[in-house]
Amino acid sequence: MTQPPRKIIIDTDPGQDDAIAILLAFASPEIDVLGLTAVAGNVPLALTQKNARIICELAGRSDVPVYAGCDRPLERKLVTAEHVHGKTGLDGPAMPDPVMPLAEGHGVDFIIETLRREAAHTVTLCPLGPLTNIAEAFRRAPDVAGRVQQIVLMGGAYFEVGNITPAAEFNIYVDPEAADIVFRSGVPIVVMPLDVTHKVLTTRARVEAFRALGTEVGRVCAEWSDFFERFDMEKYGSEGAPLHDPTVIAYLLAPGLFRGRHINVEIEVQSDLTRGMTVADWWGVTDRPANALFIGDVDAEGFFALLTERLGRL
Ligand code: RIB
Ligand code: CA
Repeated sequence: MTQPPRKIIIDTDPGQDDAIAILLAFASPEIDVLGLTAVAGNVPLALTQKNARIICELAGRSDVPVYAGCDRPLERKLVTAEHVHGKTGLDGPAMPDPVMPLAEGHGVDFIIETLRREAAHTVTLCPLGPLTNIAEAFRRAPDVAGRVQQIVLMGGAYFEVGNITPAAEFNIYVDPEAADIVFRSGVPIVVMPLDVTHKVLTTRARVEAFRALGTEVGRVCAEWSDFFERFDMEKYGSEGAPLHDPTVIAYLLAPGLFRGRHINVEIEVQSDLTRGMTVADWWGVTDRPANALFIGDVDAEGFFALLTERLGRL
């Protein structure tokens, strides 16, 4: 008896790596994407909501609603990452403007209404950007946090420390207050931090495997990777860039590819120097209660084999 598809909402700030994560979800029959909610992050909201629709149309999924969510963090000024993703957020291949309309209504209301409508503990939230929309949903409707099946998010770092500052990973840094709300919410959380995403690098062979699919999706994913990786390769001197966000969807499909620890993770919101740091008690040196499965390792070859095979289905 096969399981019914897992219902998810993807909250996203596309971003080439977000785009590949969303395509992986669309390519996988085990997953039912109820909708995409765009958030300000890599680029401003006007672009992330447009990019989310571009990705849906590339996958032939203009049936999936795309909502615009919050256009800035809960309390802070927006920080963006055009230096990594380019001014459109999806630099690399030229992409046609979307034809599908933006869904009516605010992304936060979509999250709230969906969680209230669907049976409790049957919807998983997959945030791939700053946690503003998720936190705002929990603030506006405190009843819905208890209805979430699981949150599987990309964000944070412990051994890898920061990528936007020496101490903090971008998604958490942009909206640390939102991250604090989410990590204190009591919802079961799985965290894909830089510690694991830095182990899934877009090496030449892996990018060529996208291109060798011989499909439009394969070509676009290769060209997104070609663009996206230049910044990290320059910075880290690595052979390829970390393909951050697809690890979230891969975890839903094949959790056995990943290994981590159930630990306490708290967010620095006071200090300017370490704002947005995920203080992960990996070594259990405090008695703070565990609130997250913090992933530290991955079978990288298995991850790329799964990703490439699935992308080949689109
Ligand atoms: O730090 C990496 C994260 O920030 C990824 O989600 C990337 O898309 C950006 O949002
Ligand atoms: Ca992202």
